[in-house]
Amino acid sequence: MESLSELTERARADITASADLTRHDEVRVHWRGKKGLLTEQLKSLGGLPAAERPAAGQRINEAKSRVQVQLDERRGLLEHDAVERTLSAGRIDITLEGRGEQSGGLHPVTRARLRIEKLFSDVGFTVAQGPEIEDDFHNFTALNVPENHPARAMHDTFYLEPGQAGEGTLLRTHTSPVQIRALRAGKPPLAVIAPGRVYRIDSDATHTPMFHQIEGLLVDTDVSFAQLKSILHGFMEAFFERDLAMRLRPSYFPFTEPSAEVDISCVECGGKGCRLCKHTGWIEVLGCGMVHPNVLASCDVDPDRYTGYAFGMGIDRLAMLRYGVNDLRLFFENDLRFLRQFRGG
Ligand code: FA5
Ligand code: MG
Repeated sequence: MESLSELTERARADITASADLTRHDEVRVHWRGKKGLLTEQLKSLGGLPAAERPAAGQRINEAKSRVQVQLDERRGLLEHDAVERTLSAGRIDITLEGRGEQSGGLHPVTRARLRIEKLFSDVGFTVAQGPEIEDDFHNFTALNVPENHPARAMHDTFYLEPGQAGEGTLLRTHTSPVQIRALRAGKPPLAVIAPGRVYRIDSDATHTPMFHQIEGLLVDTDVSFAQLKSILHGFMEAFFERDLAMRLRPSYFPFTEPSAEVDISCVECGGKGCRLCKHTGWIEVLGCGMVHPNVLASCDVDPDRYTGYAFGMGIDRLAMLRYGVNDLRLFFENDLRFLRQFRGG
């Protein structure tokens, strides 16, 4: 019979010669498996005299662990080789430059909104919010637009079906209902701006069915029209970062009296006249006025004690002017070639 040392020497040679993991596994089973050659050795102990058995058993067990160590070492090497081979077969060149991350950016309308919010926050206004699905009361009635009043036709309103969100609900046509909510929630003195989406049945190069407005409302004792004019002029020059002429034209809104529409000198031609300003030198940017006493009264604010001003402007319009965009609809088509141009600022 082969000696133990001859057996372990053969096992070592087999292990060293195993060239891959499959062969390694065959060698392992051959030597260390349940029916492997070394296990067989232990079974042969029964043929030895009782006195020799313990020493022989110990020698066999020692040989078994040596072979196991050799098997483990070889397996580690073969596994490492296998990984190397997979990597080189996949031709991963770790010295190549990375592809880099595509960085996103804020939408130009969002940029304009944040800019407006910052400028008004700096002078003490807080930001208020209201729902986009409004009721008739907040969008019209409390704003001094009674039912069946012709002024309701100034806005082409999307009405919801009675089953959709309750009786008399609509998509708000302007941010002015937030004036009502702010006045009812808090007591004067009060200075808020309210940005958000508004909806009208309207679509062309300068009108979209959904657009963004920002409402401003300040109520206190002794608020004057001159203060309104001054804050708006200061805002426009800060927003466009240049000196601008500004003019107010008498206008009509049911919720303000007196009311005005505000034009700024054309940001394209500086007032000389061009296509953007339709050769008038002026561009309309917002509506404003002194809060109508009926509006204050509908919010339980005493019109004899308090006065206030309010204004509402199109954020998208301001973004168009600031970024030189000539079609409002581009903002909402989400063409990345258009939007990427605003990533930086
Ligand atoms: C109003 O909506 C009033 N609520 C503004 C107001 C508030 C007046 C507080 C007085 C006191 P008007 O319908 O003019 O007013 O809209 C205001 C601004 O929204 C316009 O100057 C314009 O910049 C913008 N705008 C109006 N319609 C659209 C539209 N379809 N698409 C994009 N911008 C629009
Ligand atoms: Mg208008």
